[in-house]
Amino acid sequence: MIPKSFIHDLLSRLDIVDVIERYVPLKKAGSNYIACCPFHNEKSPSFTVSRSKQFYHCFGCGAHGTIIGFAMEHGGLGFVDAVEELASSAGMIVPSEVPEQALHHKVAQDLYEVLQSATRYFRDQLKLSPPAIDYLKQRGLSGEIALRFGIGYAPEGWQNLRSIFANYQDSSLLEAGLVIENEDGKRYDRFRDRIMFPIVNVRGQVIGFGGRVLGSGDPKYLNSPETELFDKGRELYGLFQALKAIRTNRQVLVVEGYMDVVALAQHGIEYAVATLGTATTPYHVQKMLRLTDKVMFCFDGDAAGQRAAWRAMENALPQLVDGKHIGFLFLPLRHDPDSFVREHGTAAFEQLLHEALPLSSYMLRELSMQVDLYTQEGRTSLLQRAKPLLTVISAPTTALLLRKEVAALAGITQAELEALYVIKPIGALPRRAPQKAARPVASNLRVLLRCLLFQPDLARELPENWVAVGEEAAAITALTEWSRAQEGAISTAAMIQNFQGTVHDSLFSAEQAEIMQWGETFNVAAEFQDVLTRLRIEERKQKLQALDVKMHGAGMKGLNEQERLLYLQLLQRS
Ligand code: UTP
Ligand code: MN
Repeated sequence: MIPKSFIHDLLSRLDIVDVIERYVPLKKAGSNYIACCPFHNEKSPSFTVSRSKQFYHCFGCGAHGTIIGFAMEHGGLGFVDAVEELASSAGMIVPSEVPEQALHHKVAQDLYEVLQSATRYFRDQLKLSPPAIDYLKQRGLSGEIALRFGIGYAPEGWQNLRSIFANYQDSSLLEAGLVIENEDGKRYDRFRDRIMFPIVNVRGQVIGFGGRVLGSGDPKYLNSPETELFDKGRELYGLFQALKAIRTNRQVLVVEGYMDVVALAQHGIEYAVATLGTATTPYHVQKMLRLTDKVMFCFDGDAAGQRAAWRAMENALPQLVDGKHIGFLFLPLRHDPDSFVREHGTAAFEQLLHEALPLSSYMLRELSMQVDLYTQEGRTSLLQRAKPLLTVISAPTTALLLRKEVAALAGITQAELEALYVIKPIGALPRRAPQKAARPVASNLRVLLRCLLFQPDLARELPENWVAVGEEAAAITALTEWSRAQEGAISTAAMIQNFQGTVHDSLFSAEQAEIMQWGETFNVAAEFQDVLTRLRIEERKQKLQALDVKMHGAGMKGLNEQERLLYLQLLQRS
């Protein structure tokens, strides 16, 4: 658990304009900064960043948050990873890390530098090697694409890296996976006479390499070992280069090889990524679903492709989210994306993508092909095979529909299937709270909320006995309680961060959009007093009206003792 105080520190140490500007060019507009939104496709800028309040809001798609939200959404990171990334960019160390891990932090920095130097070296060597250049050309790659992916060449020879690292014996070379040490302690370069594909994390830092032989040889691809920085189950080749296209195309395409990613990009399909010689892991799926709503898997048409697809489906199931789409595309036999797109072109590839099978169809098709549904044994087997798949899905609608379909295939009812799998039936869906009739105080409450967001300290000035009902009031109460529990000054960003993802989030988001317009010099204290006064007047009016209704033409006689007192008090107040 990362301490709250650290989060607040981080939010105040980093400037949101600097952080966002690393990825999105911002333009000054009044007291805010604007850009075309990195989270949706647009021609005129509606993505707005407030430097004074340290948050961003897109008026087009509603994306909003602090630097932490930005790092999460832009990089497809979880909260902890986002905080760690931001902290490291600010030279801060997340305090839950024990001292030993702090040391690792330093080691990690060294490894990044070592890998960066090696990348530069391989790139320079490519320019000096006509056979390597020819190989890439013959595979249809332009210099521009080679540059985009940082492709290089590790020349022949055993200790070439001596020429760029003063100390070839340095432990970082071994830890980065660039050299191998034999039993006698003698070192040599891991990558020799290979085309080098740098593997880059979402921050754009090189964390490893894939090296391909020129022509034929074994192994065809040699990959960096897993290191402190490189975890194959978490990284996706090409993701950094694809981030922008994934957003504009609203999908990510997962392929199997380095060359596939690069060849697709060469043909204008820039939203492809590859797993690194491993199956797609649940973590991969989660990471991609955070970035976009549509994840398409592409597999070769052979038996290995079929097996890989099944594994990918199994690993995707626990991560499914209703409303997000996962699809499976199978290429014709003897094709991979690289050969297909080169032979048939971009449009043909996109057509295949268009015709891809949704996950549910793929699952049902495979399940029913594996068994003979005309026999009882076959249907039993279907139910057994489907059980581990259906019971790990947590997306409620998807799970329900798939269970219905599998039950139908097996000739039983949904209830029978649920009893068999010991799944609790989904009860009546929670009914939405009945919409309240017009809430006359709503707009004043909204303004109050706006004031508190603009200057969270004001919450401490709210009368102790402040009560109201409704969604806005609940948000204000939550916010007030939180503010009162904080020590020292509180920032808008710290507050937004605290309420991100809570039930109040959408309301806060709407009001954040409003305060973007207020500007730095806005007299919020005056607005706050004004709105409190208006609220008091509203309240008085409502109580009087309620009492009037009770009197029902009978005057004070219609009221009890207490109500009469209240009525008189209200009349005296203005
Ligand atoms: P493929 O053999 O399908 O490679 O392996 P490819 O991408 O089509 O390669 P080209 O077109 O011949 O250059 C797919 C992926 O499996 C991993 C690599 O990640 C490769 O991109 N792989 C393959 C290895 O790690 N080692 C190998 O020896 C082969
Ligand atoms: Mn290939």
